[in-house]
Amino acid sequence: KMVGEPVNVNEFQELAREALPKMYYDFYAGGAEDQYTLKENVEAFHRIMIRPRTLVDVSRIDMSTTVLGYKISAPILIAPTALHKLAHPEGEVATARAAAACKTIMVLSFTSSCTVEEVASGCNAVRFFQLYVYKKRDIAAVLVQRAERNGYKALVLTVDTPRLGRREADIKNKMVAPRLKNLEGLLSIEADSDNGSNLEAYAKETMDASLCWKDIEWLKSITNMPILIKGVLTGEDAIKAAEVGVAGIMVSNHGARQLDYTDATINVLEEVVHAVRGRVPVFFDGGVRRGTDIFKALALGAQAVLIGRPVIFGLAAKGEYGVRQVIQMLKDELELTMALSGCPSVKDITRHHVRTERERLH
Ligand code: FNR
Repeated sequence: KMVGEPVNVNEFQELAREALPKMYYDFYAGGAEDQYTLKENVEAFHRIMIRPRTLVDVSRIDMSTTVLGYKISAPILIAPTALHKLAHPEGEVATARAAAACKTIMVLSFTSSCTVEEVASGCNAVRFFQLYVYKKRDIAAVLVQRAERNGYKALVLTVDTPRLGRREADIKNKMVAPRLKNLEGLLSIEADSDNGSNLEAYAKETMDASLCWKDIEWLKSITNMPILIKGVLTGEDAIKAAEVGVAGIMVSNHGARQLDYTDATINVLEEVVHAVRGRVPVFFDGGVRRGTDIFKALALGAQAVLIGRPVIFGLAAKGEYGVRQVIQMLKDELELTMALSGCPSVKDITRHHVRTERERLH
């Protein structure tokens, strides 16, 4: 049992565990199958060392940066995660308010528990909309239109989910997801949940597993929003993404909830960065729990990082205030890391400021 106020983001996980029913906590915390990648996403950061520089004027630290031209206070975005009302009654509206208060960007999940419209009217944060493409393609078209009409600034197409990964905790708990608010009146599917979680059955029924590179053209034809691709893990796919003209790439393994035994995202970031050769910005998520993690991702070429689980844990523990605290803690830690390593601004963080495990062994 923990005593007193949390002093770091990891302690919010304990608060969330205490606050939530086991079924929901497991849904948020869990990963696919052996959860090997889940552990690695976090632990791979522990094997990257920082090379600090001294006697640099760090009396003023500027963490601000831009994402697709939008100025934000620090390179820390809120990742799209499902069903925030299972964590807190105010759901994504509270999360979005926290994003606005922290002057950062929230990526709203397609599978949110507040609608695109509710989140838009509840806050003035810069918002992006994350999209899944269903077999019924009109659903994507309608959602994209609603996002655009409600002032969302970019579309984040998640490409790592033609089917749902196998999350055994959800199967054991017989996790049942509520109906998706954004899809009310658009789709009615009763996914069978007799043998475990209904999530997998629902996804298999709805997700368009035939989606491929040529469909990016279709997506471009139905929106004026810039399109980012989330879920790229190889240089090969990064090159393809740059070729089809996306506005950004997100290196992500979906928080290790999809394919187990993918490498930790921090280990593949540089491969992607090298492949795109500066043509498009590269974003990063997976296992970011410390300011030092953010520093390492920036040093390896990320423009900004996205935060998944810690945001949900903050929301579960303390609502909007908890999300603000989580983002603020990461900002404070990043600021201190920059000061202690001789980097007064994010552009001062270079490849020379970290040493990877491979470099240490050679
Ligand atoms: C996710 N993620 C996710 N991604 C996405 O594109 N659409 C979604 O609806 C969801 N839903 C979702 C739910 C939960 C509970 C989690 C934990 C994750 C993946 C998410 O955007 C992000 O890639 C990871 O969460 C990043 O890893 P960390 O920060 O959780 O370690």
